[in-house]
Amino acid sequence: MNEIAAALEATGLAQHLKTSRWTYPLVNAGHLLGIALLVGAIVPMDVAILRGRGTAAVRMLRPWAVAGFALAVVCGAMLFVTQATDYVTSDLYRLKMGLLVLLALNAAVHLRATAAGLRRAAVVSLVGWPTVLLLGRLVGYS
Ligand code: HEM
Repeated sequence: MNEIAAALEATGLAQHLKTSRWTYPLVNAGHLLGIALLVGAIVPMDVAILRGRGTAAVRMLRPWAVAGFALAVVCGAMLFVTQATDYVTSDLYRLKMGLLVLLALNAAVHLRATAAGLRRAAVVSLVGWPTVLLLGRLVGYS
């Protein structure tokens, strides 16, 4: 695992991101924009599901949540390669990634859920995504 992380950190992309004046901040801003789109779409969507008015909200907001997630993943991966060897050994980073995978599965599995299953998934999602956000911020201080 450490060898892969070291190899990622040695790539031209990682070296460029580490030394460039503008690219890293722009990628970081892209990560934050993705997070804003993701959480900003998911919270009202989950609240609407819990209030029994999920259908229209899901139709309107899901594309924004998916786009935000994709942007956060692409930019997050670019942030990751700059310090991959530190992140792979960080408990907070690993917790963030583990929770993120579980929440993505929660969203995917419940696409075909019953009404009760959908409400359970909405509660998990409402608590989970803001927790990922908090963990993401804390990684920078660990
Ligand atoms: C595969 C997906 C993702 C990867 C690989 C990833 C990776 C990273 C990395 C490497 C950092 C820099 C940490 C540092 O400060 O040293 C970061 C920051 C952060 N991430 Fe992610 N992340 C992903 C998805 C997400 C998602 C979905 C959220 C929120 C729901 C999130 C929330 C944050 C936050 C709040 C920060 C701190 C940003 C800042 O203070 O400038 N991340 N992420």
